[in-house]
Amino acid sequence: MSVKEEKKNPAETAVKEKKQIAAKLIPIYIMGKRYEVPEGLTIMKAMEYAGYRFIRGCGCRGGTCGACGTVYRKPGDYKLQVALACQKTVEPGMYMAQIPFFPANRAQYEFTDLTSTPEEVFKLYPELFRCVACNACTKACPQGIEVMDAIAALKQGNIAEAARLSFDCIQCGLCTSRCFGELAQYHMFQLARRIYGAKILPRAEHLAEMIGTINEGRYDQILDELKHVKEDELKKLYQERESEPMAAGEDWKPEDTRYL
Ligand code: SF4
Ligand code: SF4
Ligand code: FES
Repeated sequence: MSVKEEKKNPAETAVKEKKQIAAKLIPIYIMGKRYEVPEGLTIMKAMEYAGYRFIRGCGCRGGTCGACGTVYRKPGDYKLQVALACQKTVEPGMYMAQIPFFPANRAQYEFTDLTSTPEEVFKLYPELFRCVACNACTKACPQGIEVMDAIAALKQGNIAEAARLSFDCIQCGLCTSRCFGELAQYHMFQLARRIYGAKILPRAEHLAEMIGTINEGRYDQILDELKHVKEDELKKLYQERESEPMAAGEDWKPEDTRYL
């Protein structure tokens, strides 16, 4: 095959692929305007295919940053649905709009001044008691969090339970957008997790020990040496470092123990 032919083939392949894609187009409505997009795309990719360029409302593209909340309805279905645009695939006739930001009350506080008592949460978020237990928040959550239960735990003063239940919250705000009581659940949960992590959970002794060792200057010399190593050498050191084997036991140690 000649070089010319070799160069030509990728273009032909691209045209073929485009034709294949074109054969599978489905209609969707983005903010009321009809577009035809390839089926199987996520809402986010379909919007980009339709010409939208995200400068907000898009972050990780992997379902973890919570930036791409979207509301949609399907033809013939009265239900308003919510999803993450980077996760949900388009369906024929779906009509949608993205919610890159949803206004929500976020209390101001100096965290170090807070105690671990439930009253701190009640004081900062008195609207907590506006919850009418409608469960719309739980139905909206793309993370499958029992949002209403976590709110109920907070109302009962059980910060640890609220922190546990809301652990997977990605702060997308979709629960807040549906809340009849106008709560900003995810900000409340964040406060609960902060209080739980910093003021309720027992301190890890080994961590405290290690911090003490660092503060005593145990690693100052090695860090100082590393600061003066050239970039290439640093990369080599990193690549050749001794890694802990996957099945290493609790008492595993590297051969070079100078820096332990
Ligand atoms: S709890 Fe609310 S903010 Fe958190 S992930 Fe679920 S819907 Fe999003
Ligand atoms: S949507 Fe709001 S009012 Fe309804 S259960 Fe959830 S927090 Fe309570
Ligand atoms: S872009 Fe991060 S969750 Fe969708």
